[in-house]
Amino acid sequence: MKALILAGGFGTRLRPLSCTRPKILFPIVNKPLLDLTLERLSKSGVSEVILAVNYGAEALKKHCGSSKYGMKILYSEDRIQHDSKNIFSPPRPLGTGGPIKKAENLLGKDESFLVLNGDILTDLDYRALMQSHKKSSGIATIALFTVKDPSRYGVVKFNEESFQITQFFEKPSRNEAPSNLINAGIYALNPKIFNYIPKAKPCSIEREVFPKLASEKTLFGHPFQGLWIDVGKREDYLKANMLILESQKEQSPQNQMFGAHIKTRKPIAIGENASIGEGSMIGPYVVLGKNVNVGMNVSIQNSVVFPGVIISDLVSIKGTVIGENVFIGKHVQIGENCIIGDGAVIEDNVTLVNGVTVCPFKTVSESVFEARCLM
Ligand code: GTP
Repeated sequence: MKALILAGGFGTRLRPLSCTRPKILFPIVNKPLLDLTLERLSKSGVSEVILAVNYGAEALKKHCGSSKYGMKILYSEDRIQHDSKNIFSPPRPLGTGGPIKKAENLLGKDESFLVLNGDILTDLDYRALMQSHKKSSGIATIALFTVKDPSRYGVVKFNEESFQITQFFEKPSRNEAPSNLINAGIYALNPKIFNYIPKAKPCSIEREVFPKLASEKTLFGHPFQGLWIDVGKREDYLKANMLILESQKEQSPQNQMFGAHIKTRKPIAIGENASIGEGSMIGPYVVLGKNVNVGMNVSIQNSVVFPGVIISDLVSIKGTVIGENVFIGKHVQIGENCIIGDGAVIEDNVTLVNGVTVCPFKTVSESVFEARCLM
């Protein structure tokens, strides 16, 4: 079985952290999201994965190489003809449909295949999705998940007896949504799909292809329950980490690895070679990456700290994501829902209130008392 992972989005909602790494390489409890997906695909019998890349292509190629978890990894780049005379004209991304057409030769015409939005954390049974697809003999079968507020997603009108999706609405208002069943961003597709996607043009599969298939009665659904979270927004990225932390409670560290009088409140996860100074209080819901160095009398709650971060003494951090190799000086306070970009420096005695974002490699030497982006 082959699978294509859509991996080339700009991840604008996760800026500034996504300015320095593609969203699907963001760590979820110290493991890149992409690796969690690849491991599960491998266990489901997938032998070949095609990464549809654009933004962050080089980082993804370096990370995966030509094989991972026993699967062959191939790359399909969005890059299409653009104005070569204008050096500032960036390659145009192909959206969520165009990359599937672009990879037509790699996916082949003989067998149905899986397509996944790379930014979804899920425990969906991929084999069961493929089986539903084979039973229905439709052109596309969409994994469907139930949510409370469907207005942020693609919502379907679904016939529970025939498993047919009779209508597909992309991001409807709350009143218009015909159900709470949403497109989970994972599909089984028949190669006939290639006839529905234009060549070498950006295309949204959700807006341009699925509504057409629904009207032609060749669009089917596969409802499932369990874990599903789209990590595209900062609060959802934090939530994804918290959910995985909860399911891995036993991985909490041995306190004796660290300085005296440390208090930990589970669940927490601590990466290799991390150190915690005397009197610090870590947790609940904290992930510390590899080589993170926490000073004395530090308090960290509900936060994700990427690898290589240095946190000096008497710092307080709550509900925040701290990027790779950030340096945080003494007596710093960081409020909720902040994002600190990779390599930033927060100098001694600075306070950042809730909702402040700091761009990569920025030095912050004064406190900020309103939610804004420091560039
Ligand atoms: P936002 O800018 O925050 O909306 O994020 P995004 O650019 O990743 O868009 P979105 O969340 O809608 O993308 C869903 C999935 O499709 C993600 O895994 C993206 O990496 C991927 N994706 C989105 N646009 C493209 C594209 O133009 N080309 C490729 N190859 N993948 C894409």
